[in-house]
Amino acid sequence: MDCVTQNSAVISWETDQNTAGYVVLNSALDAEPRKLGAGSPGKRHEVSIAGLSPETTYHYVVEPGKDAFPSFEYSFRTAPPDGERRPFRFVFFSDCRAGAESGNTDYNGINAQVFQRLLQETMHQKASFGLLSGDFSNGYTTDLTYYESQIRSWKEIVQPIGASIPFFKGVGNHECAPVIFKIPDPDSPGRAFPALRDREDPYSIESIFSRNFVNPAGSVYGFPSPAPESQPGKKFHLSNLGPDYGETVFSFNWANLHIAFINTNYWTTCVKDGFDWSSRSFTDREGNFIALDVLGGNKEGYLMPNMLSWLERDLKAAQSDSDIDWILVVSHEPPFPCGGHLSDAMYWAKKHEPAQGLNRPERLLGDVLPMRDRFISILMKFPKVAAVLSGHEHNYSRMKIDSALNPRYTRPIWQIISGGGGAPYYLQDTGMPWENSIACFSPLPNYCRFDTDGKSLKLTVFSDGNEVIDNVDHFERVSFPK
Ligand SMILES: [Fe+2]
Ligand SMILES: [Fe+2]
Repeated sequence: MDCVTQNSAVISWETDQNTAGYVVLNSALDAEPRKLGAGSPGKRHEVSIAGLSPETTYHYVVEPGKDAFPSFEYSFRTAPPDGERRPFRFVFFSDCRAGAESGNTDYNGINAQVFQRLLQETMHQKASFGLLSGDFSNGYTTDLTYYESQIRSWKEIVQPIGASIPFFKGVGNHECAPVIFKIPDPDSPGRAFPALRDREDPYSIESIFSRNFVNPAGSVYGFPSPAPESQPGKKFHLSNLGPDYGETVFSFNWANLHIAFINTNYWTTCVKDGFDWSSRSFTDREGNFIALDVLGGNKEGYLMPNMLSWLERDLKAAQSDSDIDWILVVSHEPPFPCGGHLSDAMYWAKKHEPAQGLNRPERLLGDVLPMRDRFISILMKFPKVAAVLSGHEHNYSRMKIDSALNPRYTRPIWQIISGGGGAPYYLQDTGMPWENSIACFSPLPNYCRFDTDGKSLKLTVFSDGNEVIDNVDHFERVSFPK
């Protein structure tokens, strides 16, 4: 069950045989059940349902086809009418990939134990929908079949709850099924080091993600996802055009709330972990710059220009939409990492050196800092933007992005990191320029619950044991200075 709006929804399922199944749908408003689907036979089935009524509960059964058993009966509820100011609740959490242990904490690359717990809370707390910002499974495998089996396991875990509650899904760095190249080491003739690059379409991670998951496509304001990014030619005869963004960049509205998902892990190139760098005198953050120069592609946390233009256009439309009071932006890698990812995300401090951030604007793709600043300046432009929601760091933190950090940050916006979905936890870092802006930090597994009564937006953060870790009343005091 995905892409629920005030008047539509998408129901999807898979079968091991080619079938032409259908959905039987009914509500208290319908005299007769509706039968939808039964397109041409296949194994992946996606039925888009239109013409639904707002704030209505629908019951459905999937009839997968001849000689197959029907599904359980599930129900879902459509969104309130656009612009309605009334109470609803949703959750946000991230990074449910495998923990450091084994068994159920590493079920085919997923921490099923913690993830299931948080999914059950989503149901128990009667959330209308969930936002998940990536790192669903371990990924980082060159074996596409194995990677797709991880996605299948993820869906099996989500299914019991996801059949009734829509989850909007973002892409993270662990959504990664790359090719490995050997890069000649300019420092040691005859030596080479391994680097990963995202595959080209139709096997880029953006394509795999869009094929396997059901998400909205493009902006809710009617324009498609960003055009593929491009760059000058590279060695190895690789394409100069990046993959299609597909369903990794999109937005949707729920009543008076606008949510935009961006892709911080587009067209990834990186060096392979485990290579011995100790004998190298040439250290460009462990060879990543060399890999980018040779292979092209992009580094994690670097926001590319077409996507930023897309975001600005999308947020501008939401800002001028009188139905919308709040905007949230979901970004897997945080603009200001503070708990485990100083040496990537949108900072790229050099490992084992005092945190100060690398800035190499002379590089072809520039560096993350100017693009991060461009990203933040876009968020600052639109007063309805209340927060950027991130994962990547396996903990919880909340910090204020405001003029105390940089005089150009003229309006306070919260950065909320909730990456405690099951991946190995990280402790708080120190030494970065925004250290004093961090208002709350917890290494516990966690999820964020947002509540609105129509007038204010409120955040309560819980551990997996339902202790309250943090809360923010009245987001509007931050986003709408009075
Ligand atoms: Fe991540
Ligand atoms: Fe992560």
